[in-house]
Amino acid sequence: MERSLVIIKPDATVRRRIGALVIKALMDRDLKVVAFKEMNVPDSLAKLHYDVHKDKPFFPWLIDFISSAPVITMILEGENAIEDIRDALGATFVQKADSSSLRGKYGVWAGINIAHASDAPDTATKEIMLWKEEGGLEETDDAQEMALDYIRKYSANKRDYTSEIRNTVNTAIEREDTSEDVLQRLIDLLSKDAEDITEEEINNLARVVFDYIKEEVE
Ligand code: CMP
Repeated sequence: MERSLVIIKPDATVRRRIGALVIKALMDRDLKVVAFKEMNVPDSLAKLHYDVHKDKPFFPWLIDFISSAPVITMILEGENAIEDIRDALGATFVQKADSSSLRGKYGVWAGINIAHASDAPDTATKEIMLWKEEGGLEETDDAQEMALDYIRKYSANKRDYTSEIRNTVNTAIEREDTSEDVLQRLIDLLSKDAEDITEEEINNLARVVFDYIKEEVE
């Protein structure tokens, strides 16, 4: 049996239905949920988790993104868990992800890609230890049930606003539009299915997406 650390990132946790659909798609692959926790990621943990990227130009943005709004952290277990999950998610960059993959279907843009998953067994071991020690992630007997409850609660929610969000980002980049109207449109779209997410968290996430647009335009 193999284990992987999966983080449903803020763009898929704020969009409740998307988070539920992603978790369901992973569980449908015969993966068992052994730990499940919705949480806000402190800066310190975000920096440790993404330490391998610390010299990349996008590192500060990545830290802002992962700590902008809640995430769902899970340990998933299965025979070929690591490869299976990475197959289901598709390529890291949303525009490169196959349209049948989860990132291809629900990813927002580029690195705003709905989920993180461990890329190899040794990384999985390290990431699981880190999130247990620094993130309070715990293996519990009811983790599988918690995940199923989440799916039951949110998968029937509203509709999927992925295409509207992508269009907003795409159009803004094409037109080099970094006006406050774009930010407001992102806030409106990200608010549509954001049950139990605070206004501040929605604004934080919208701002991170907006910052990405600004980077592309500048
Ligand atoms: P993840 O699988 O969590 O691992 C590192 C993350 O960095 C990746 O998903 C993306 O969210 C992000 N990322 C990778 N490359 C870039 C990039 N060029 N610009 C912005 N973010 C990126």
